Amino acid sequence: MESKILITGITGNVGSEVAKILIGMDQPVKGAARNITNIEKQYGGSIDYVKFDFEDPNTYDAALKDVSRIFLIRPPQIGDVKKYINPFIDRAKMRGIKHIVFLSIIGADKNPFVPHNKIEKHLKTSGIAYTFLRASFFMQNLSTFYKDIIKYQNDIFIPAGKGKTSFIDIRDIAEIAVKAFFDSTYRNNAYSLTGSEALDYFEVANIFTDVLGRKIIYSNPSSSEYKTRMKILGEEKEFIKVMANLYFAVRLGIAAVITDETRKLLRKPPITMMEFVRDYSNCWR
Ligand SMILES: NC(=O)c1ccc[n+]([C@@H]2O[C@H](COP(=O)([O-])OP(=O)(O)OC[C@H]3O[C@@H](n4cnc5c(N)ncnc54)[C@H](OP(=O)(O)O)[C@@H]3O)[C@@H](O)[C@H]2O)c1
Repeated sequence: MESKILITGITGNVGSEVAKILIGMDQPVKGAARNITNIEKQYGGSIDYVKFDFEDPNTYDAALKDVSRIFLIRPPQIGDVKKYINPFIDRAKMRGIKHIVFLSIIGADKNPFVPHNKIEKHLKTSGIAYTFLRASFFMQNLSTFYKDIIKYQNDIFIPAGKGKTSFIDIRDIAEIAVKAFFDSTYRNNAYSLTGSEALDYFEVANIFTDVLGRKIIYSNPSSSEYKTRMKILGEEKEFIKVMANLYFAVRLGIAAVITDETRKLLRKPPITMMEFVRDYSNCWR
């Protein structure tokens, strides 16, 4: 029987980068998401895929069939992980899954309020070998969620004050996730992954200005201005609250921590903000 790597969130930011690398290595992968039309659009018939919903346990067995390892993400809208993610881990254990690489968040081990903390704890006791990739803020938030505000209003509209962030490029996370599947030293280990520099959003705006050749500002909105704008844009109340709280933490300097782990694991310097903006520049033009 073929042993595949199941990639949850295969149409999302990090899942699609992990898939790209594994497909390039000719590794058998199985893609999972709720919307299989999106998987088909992205991958055509080149991979095995399955309709999968963490919130529907009836989809678990089909997802886990012929799978020995999992790249696990928690979809951002799932808060109740005890109800929707941990039972999937239990089913994975029952079906003999050997290793789960979990995309976590920096500081998750010390912060009981983030859902990733509960997932990590559950994975540790599951008996399945685990790797926790505790990532800092993604650079790609600027090319996805904030893309249009930057593109059309030339503004980085984020309520982070003067707080610095040790941004990481998801391409670096994906490369490390793939290494974790093939190198046994990653098993039952956790890594805090950041970029090599901590920048505030004034500095980020300057990089955008330099690369794009037009003025991009950081308007440094207050938390309540941010909440109002997000409400107008139609974002869910709970989501807005989570985002505002995250940026409150950034204001306090909590996101500024830099580790050397990304460079050590990649054996090369992490992608910088300048490189990221250059590589993705077309999306804001
Ligand atoms: N953004 C950051 O700066 C940052 C930093 C560190 C950690 N993280 C963590 O990264 C995770 C998100 O990863 P991402 O940005 O790669 O995700 P993403 O781009 O938001 O994509 C989510 C993926 O999950 C799938 N999905 C959504 N709901 C699902 C469900 N109920 N069942 C099964 N699949 C579902 C989506 O496809 P369908 O909609 O078709 O199902 C999609 O493929 C979060 O846990 C977040 O906390 C984010």
